[in-house]
Amino acid sequence: MRILLLTHTFNSLTQRLAAELQRRGHETSIEFDIADSVTAEAVALFKPDLVVAPYLRRAIPESVWSRHVCLVVHPGIVGDRGPSALDWALQDGEAEWGVTVLQAEAEMDAGPVWATAALPLREAKKSSIYRNEVTQAAVTAVLAAVEKFVAGAKPTPLADWPEARGRLRPLMKQADRAIDWQRDDSATVLRKINAADGFPGVADSLFGIPCHIFDAWPEASLSGVSSVGAGRIIGRREAAILRRTIDGAVWIGHARREGGFKLPVTLAFPVETSELAELQLAAWWRVDHATWQDIAWEESGPVGFLHFEFYNGAMSTTQCRRLREALAWAKTRPVRVIVLAGGADFWSNGIHLNVIEAAESPADESWNNINAMNDLALELIDSGRQITVAALAGNAGAGGCFLARAADFVWAREGVMLNPHYKNMGNLYGSEYWTYLLPRRVGEQGAGEIMRNRQPLTARSAVEIGFSDACLAGDPEAFRIDVARRAMEIAASPDLDQRLAAKRERRAADEAAKPLAAYREEELAQMRRNFYGFDPSYHVARHHFVRKSLASWTPRHLARHRDLGWQG
Ligand code: COA
Repeated sequence: MRILLLTHTFNSLTQRLAAELQRRGHETSIEFDIADSVTAEAVALFKPDLVVAPYLRRAIPESVWSRHVCLVVHPGIVGDRGPSALDWALQDGEAEWGVTVLQAEAEMDAGPVWATAALPLREAKKSSIYRNEVTQAAVTAVLAAVEKFVAGAKPTPLADWPEARGRLRPLMKQADRAIDWQRDDSATVLRKINAADGFPGVADSLFGIPCHIFDAWPEASLSGVSSVGAGRIIGRREAAILRRTIDGAVWIGHARREGGFKLPVTLAFPVETSELAELQLAAWWRVDHATWQDIAWEESGPVGFLHFEFYNGAMSTTQCRRLREALAWAKTRPVRVIVLAGGADFWSNGIHLNVIEAAESPADESWNNINAMNDLALELIDSGRQITVAALAGNAGAGGCFLARAADFVWAREGVMLNPHYKNMGNLYGSEYWTYLLPRRVGEQGAGEIMRNRQPLTARSAVEIGFSDACLAGDPEAFRIDVARRAMEIAASPDLDQRLAAKRERRAADEAAKPLAAYREEELAQMRRNFYGFDPSYHVARHHFVRKSLASWTPRHLARHRDLGWQG
């Protein structure tokens, strides 16, 4: 079938749906929901059998839904309606939730139901639930709906779901989200911030200055400690601050000041936070789930796991340097395999575009950041004593994909999306030694195509084209166990010493053929042009990305129906 995906942005959920539909032989094209007339034009050009709307912020125009079956993905249980479905579910502490695929009609979210899929609701950030459980359930429900449509079945009217407990709920307002620091306990504060993460955040104030707060973490050491100073900020660690509640404290990692964009709190409030006490961890490497910790090390016999839980997978200059130091230290440990485990939701999305945008000289900060990324990638490439594995439990994009490729093996959890290309960010050339790492996996031509086509890859298709080495279990816990088992097998393999010797020889031969420094220099010469040259495309693209400017057209590499040679 020919399926048009009508969406607000090409987010990871939409990417995943497009990939899953293509895998089943459907022909897909993308159109951003920009204006009714543009949507109507896309439909006229593509002549779809079906329109699927994975992520919309407005209603589909009647001219479209009255003539074409339009399936809308709603992140709620049957009967649930309204624009804040997940926010309410999380804030109300629901244990089970769902995704429903409805047919678009005049009334929003009130059309007949094509399919629904249940999901367990963790106590976690809304964005995390969206990228994991909701995305998985949406894939299940959309595929079921498409199958029913192909089979000529009809959807079930809402009225025929008497047991449905969902209901119409209004847009959640900031008044509903407000934290009362004198009354709310830590669990309530965490729940409220989680329900608003990553958008819109909770309107609050820090140091007496109004802002939106994001990225809350529990702090167990103070749990149950009553405090007269509830609401007071008691210290900082790296980029986060610790704030008192009535029964303990919570960490807050990110904030957006009025008129600004989301930043690590210590960057959003550099002066105010500089005076706070530094609450260092007793041992940075020891995993401690009960406090704020972005880098951690776990050792299990001959295998070491390096965790880095960076918000949104963005890696600033400082974060790259700290991670490089941690990796250099890990390499001195008596382990044979190092697993770079990344974070739960993201492995890495490359340089930190928000931190760069906030810098006095974004060009200089881009330069510092890419060099710090490169140093980190180099530390990984240059690891002759261990086998290294990038284990992607979460998505990776741009430089983050090539950082992963700097490891000997890339294993991704099924469901993860990879975007191993840079051009979407204002024609950025990219570095991280990609010109060395990519062609040796997929050939020069394959590398050129990946960069040019700018298409997302599922974990499975990444293996098929040779970008990565394995697609493992989709369930996060099963993935973790699978990764540990495979890493242990490598560490225990009788030919490990030969494998390591072969790895060192290959590196030496590659170095003799063309030094890594030469790849880096060539890439950075292009990047210098991106950062400091007369063409401002990268700076303009970053400005819009960070501020989430609305798109004014669908990029042509996505809107295939707008290709000049397109035959409808
Ligand atoms: N720097 C700063 N923030 C980043 C980031 C980066 N490199 N990559 C992603 N983010 C942020 C997004 O702004 C968004 O912020 P939010 O919490 O305010 O919503 C969040 O991470 C999630 O991103 P989103 O685009 O919604 O995630 P996705 O999984 O749907 O899409 C990508 C993933 C990789 C396609 C997309 O995030 C992207 O294009 N990122 C930029 C990659 C890049 O160009 N890096 C620089 C070159 S190395």
